[in-house]
Amino acid sequence: MIKSVRGTKDILPNETENWQFIEEHIRNTVKLFNYKELRTPIFESTEVFCRSIGDTSDIVNKEMYTFADRGKDSLTLRPEMTAALVRSCIQHNLLRETPLSRLWYFGPFFRYERPQKGRQRQFHQFGVECLGSEYPEADSEVIVLADTLIRNLGIKDYKLLLNTLGSDESRKNYRIALVSYFELHKEKLSSDSLFRLDSNPLRILDSKEQCDIEIIKDAPLLEQYLDEESEAHFAKVKSQLDNLGIKYELDPLLVRGLDYYNHTVFEFRSTSLGSQDSFGGGGRYDGLFEQLGGIAQPAVGFAMGVERLFIILEEMGIFNEIQASVDVYIVIADDNAREYADKVAQKIRSFGFSVMVDLKYRKFKAQFKEANKNNAKYTVVIGEEEVKSTLITIKNMNTGEQNSMSFSDLAENSLKY
Ligand code: HAM
Repeated sequence: MIKSVRGTKDILPNETENWQFIEEHIRNTVKLFNYKELRTPIFESTEVFCRSIGDTSDIVNKEMYTFADRGKDSLTLRPEMTAALVRSCIQHNLLRETPLSRLWYFGPFFRYERPQKGRQRQFHQFGVECLGSEYPEADSEVIVLADTLIRNLGIKDYKLLLNTLGSDESRKNYRIALVSYFELHKEKLSSDSLFRLDSNPLRILDSKEQCDIEIIKDAPLLEQYLDEESEAHFAKVKSQLDNLGIKYELDPLLVRGLDYYNHTVFEFRSTSLGSQDSFGGGGRYDGLFEQLGGIAQPAVGFAMGVERLFIILEEMGIFNEIQASVDVYIVIADDNAREYADKVAQKIRSFGFSVMVDLKYRKFKAQFKEANKNNAKYTVVIGEEEVKSTLITIKNMNTGEQNSMSFSDLAENSLKY
């Protein structure tokens, strides 16, 4: 048997209803903030990601699906959207027409990671990017949007972690202090952290290795190196969240795994998820447009892992309440009545109701069983008698009430009783 590739999953018909539940909430939430959808190809020139996410990041180093196509161009299946979206905005000059662009996306992404609960090689992200505003109000708008979605989905048990990476200047000074501190403890650091000491010392703060954690405990914190502007920016973000009653925890060790961030960074975590507990994350990335060859543009955004949202909602039992149903099931009592039944079905569909008709020449009883399985709200039995009289009897399966009318009188309100 040929199976799906390790780390990928089929989303089966009994799950799609639940996916659509999430997608519907996403669409409703972005509408509340008037964000517009952007769709880009699932592969890009490799440099889009190398020039943005960072040479020392796990994504670029170990996780990208990169291949040469038949024309020998190096292509990469997108591991994330932010870089691809910025590439698209630069290419189409989107910010010239709309200097403040509010965009959202949903789709598959690819990372060669070790598969486990909540971690796949093909996964889905929903994300938003607010482009063109350097003000902290933009940071809080995207956080508020994320929080609105989480609450609208019914998720209560989650944490929002917040930190600031400050301006480039603040980080430069902090980096010097951090390297001198870690140099003193070099011999105790893990090999990964030793490598990062030269390339990206801030990422050491993210380490989950016990030997690193011991040393990180006493490391200098970035907040001691923030310049005035960075402090004021972060203070405003926090006060805006306070104003709306959005709870957060400050985490001075939150640095995120992508190199393009500055100022505000944040992550949403849930205890339902086990070790892969982060179901969303983002931050400000004011340098990315220039890095990808465009005119400098301030920007901030986040992405959420849809599989992880799915796990949380499943554990909360939210999906059990969603029950798919068909409006009308037409039971065919006589095979000669099939053509007439099809006409009745099409007429009812023209009013906007969903209708199912048997396609397997099944017995009366088996058809009712299928009607029940599909939670049919109404049934219509059509046999020889009905063809002759053109009389249609609609039964409300909930109340047992019946409503009869001729085919020509069948109308939208025939089903509203
Ligand atoms: P990220 O933290 O790499 O950020 O990914 C965002 C979310 O995608 C994670 O919190 C997680 O829920 C989900 N995710 C990531 N990798 C996997 C995986 N292998 N399997 C399942 N889910 C996964 C970004 O991608 C940034 N582009 C976010 C952003 C947008 N920053 C600014 N704008």
